[in-house]
Amino acid sequence: MKLWKKLNQDEIQTRIFAALKQNVNFYEENILGVPGSHLDDRVFYQDAPFLQNAPYLSTLIHNPNHIGCHTLGTSESFFHGTQQIEQELIRVCAEDILHGEENSHDGYVASGGTEANMQAIWIYRNLFLEQVQLNEIAILASEDAHYSVHKASNILQISAYKIAVDPTTREIFRESVEKTLQRALADGKKRFILFANMMTTMFGSVDDPDVLTAPLEALDLSYFLHVDGAYGGFFYPFATKNCRLDFTNPKVTSVTLDAHKMVQAPYGTGIFLIRKNFIQYASTRDASYVEGEDSTIIGSRSGANAIAVWMILMKNGPYGWKEKILTLLNRANWFTEKLDELNIAFYRHAQSNIITIREKHLNSDIAQRYGLVPDDHHQPQWYKVVIMDHVSIEKLLPLVADLQAFAEKKLV
Ligand SMILES: Cc1ncc(COP(=O)(O)O)c(C=O)c1O
Repeated sequence: MKLWKKLNQDEIQTRIFAALKQNVNFYEENILGVPGSHLDDRVFYQDAPFLQNAPYLSTLIHNPNHIGCHTLGTSESFFHGTQQIEQELIRVCAEDILHGEENSHDGYVASGGTEANMQAIWIYRNLFLEQVQLNEIAILASEDAHYSVHKASNILQISAYKIAVDPTTREIFRESVEKTLQRALADGKKRFILFANMMTTMFGSVDDPDVLTAPLEALDLSYFLHVDGAYGGFFYPFATKNCRLDFTNPKVTSVTLDAHKMVQAPYGTGIFLIRKNFIQYASTRDASYVEGEDSTIIGSRSGANAIAVWMILMKNGPYGWKEKILTLLNRANWFTEKLDELNIAFYRHAQSNIITIREKHLNSDIAQRYGLVPDDHHQPQWYKVVIMDHVSIEKLLPLVADLQAFAEKKLV
């Protein structure tokens, strides 16, 4: 680990308060040209004593704007201190979690996984537009990919093609990729944006990047590979010994992570990461009033979000994080053993904490009682259980009992 080290509360506080000191101080300095300030002091505490020990809340109140991308060199100097923490967070994610080379990535804290996925497609679309027409660019993604792919396809006006998965293993396979590719080629597509899932939303399944890229390489077609790790980016790399979806794989150009899922960070903490020399394709030169200009979809965004993610990662440290993931995997193992004993059909990727149960093994009362999420609210075929920090074995026990009662027809 290069940058990611476990820190105690005092060390975290010292770092964040020092960073806030380097930011502009709206209380004491004469800042007259910015349409921003600290939070409204008629509503939000500004000097309550507990804030001295609350770096995240203090950052929220100072309200730094992290507009733009801070890994490129120049950005808004008003918030330089906390932007440096974001830069470090991007490096921790790209280098310590996804094993990329030192100082070789750009990235930023996006509003969520949706934006980060769209940012990737936006960059590759703009790059490909220097070579071909808009209607010659296509996105290829598994049928289990998150719907944000299709939202981005609609907004950016690029066709998206779904690759069929095996209904039992949820894996994409060579023939399904070839079939999808042939359809796209028949439609006149010449450049390709490939999406590989590092844990899908509904199943937790993981795509094999080589299965995705091989048919394109066989035809010498031009593509970029984006990894959607919105769900699994902070989980799968710690659960597996052989991660082919990180920056050690030269075929991977960009990755989405999402700290407001497994990391339990506040909403607004998607993370977009990309190898150097690509994010410039999303640079809006018209953003001339922004120091360093802007290469992100979002524009203004709260610096407190980056601080929150950085604090959580540093408090746990890399080994604490690994232990957390192993605990969740152990609980998932316990739960699937119970399901096996009851002969209940389910899907689970061995390195994932999502267990997706066939609809026939439960009724809507059970689903509602335990907040199980269906694949389709109108015609559910599957319901998922997600083993999060709060999903202890004690909380799983009553569900197992109800599933057993349903199997024995004591519940209908
Ligand atoms: C795999 C995957 N990608 C993208 C997203 C979108 O993330 P967000 O809701 O943060 O925009 C999700 C959300 O569940 C997801 O699971």
